[in-house]
Amino acid sequence: MRLSRARDLVIGQDALTRPAAPSDIRGRDRPDRAMKIVEAVADKYLRVLTAYDYDPAVAGHNPDSAMTLVVADREIVAADENVAALTFVAVDGGDLPAWQPGCHLDFHLPSGLRRQYSLCGDPADRGRYRIAVRSIPEGGGGSIEMHGLLPGTAVTVRGPRNGFPFVPTGSALFVAGGIGITPIIAMVRAARAAGIDWQFVYSGRSRESMPFLDEIETWESERVFVRPDDEFGRPTAGELLRRAPAGGAVYCCGPTPMLDAVRDRFADTGATALHFERFGAPTVLDGTPFEVELASTGEVLPVRADESALAVIRNRMPGVGYSCQQGFCGTCRVHVLSGTPEHRETRLTRQEQEDEMLICVSRSVGGRLTLDL
Ligand code: FES
Repeated sequence: MRLSRARDLVIGQDALTRPAAPSDIRGRDRPDRAMKIVEAVADKYLRVLTAYDYDPAVAGHNPDSAMTLVVADREIVAADENVAALTFVAVDGGDLPAWQPGCHLDFHLPSGLRRQYSLCGDPADRGRYRIAVRSIPEGGGGSIEMHGLLPGTAVTVRGPRNGFPFVPTGSALFVAGGIGITPIIAMVRAARAAGIDWQFVYSGRSRESMPFLDEIETWESERVFVRPDDEFGRPTAGELLRRAPAGGAVYCCGPTPMLDAVRDRFADTGATALHFERFGAPTVLDGTPFEVELASTGEVLPVRADESALAVIRNRMPGVGYSCQQGFCGTCRVHVLSGTPEHRETRLTRQEQEDEMLICVSRSVGGRLTLDL
């Protein structure tokens, strides 16, 4: 499966301002005017925290150091044959660095592309890592290259890192969309093992496109809702969040529209924390149009208010480097030769920001940026 790695966002709700009652079972707006006022107050106190930090002491390994891993097994895990589960082992067959549900690996592919994938195997099995890759023909080529890796192929890997940590206490709702199942399946297994109260909603285009259904359909049916779009229609945020536990947490991984919808409606639930990880680029908010000039050719590209510089540049330069599309991996870093960037990331230092930018999220408030591309 392909995951453009993301950071974990935690949206916590001040428990004292949250209504104790669960949301409408059909996910409808509460008509109660007093409730709307409570929600407005709650919204005011929404905290958005970013968690980038990784504690090497937990893993016993520096995630920035490169490892060479070898593909030991490749298995098709969705009926449409577009999702391959890949198992990797160390060259010497030894133990691999420890990981927890939510961790991902950075893959440096033979072509030079970098991509990030969630671990979805068994953390107790120190001898192997497992990921799943959906082949996306209209993507940047990384998923196709990953999907086609054959046993015996060596790849360079960094990690594991955890930008989407799971805490197996209390109660939790897990929401997965499509290939977003990969971090979630490891979390649900951990929740089952820990004996916490959990619910799981898994959506996708069709059953044929949804990996790991063989395993998931052996889980407690009263806790699992598998809802393919071709059987139930596209899910609304209310449907996805209907099982959110009062006072509990929601963990969500899926495409950007799903995450945006869940974020928008999370305040309508009685849950107190939302953890999510997206794949794909985030929606551009509050953008203004600007221009990018490619120094190598002199070509000037207009960037609309609702698109990223990376998306525009990729149309002209398909090989331009990128990975997370979230502004944290640094792969898309470029030198700015002229113009003033509007930095929308926290990866670069202030000094670096003086002449560099991350083109996946950073932009300009107008005018033209000349980039060393
Ligand atoms: S692609 Fe990761 S920071 Fe831009």
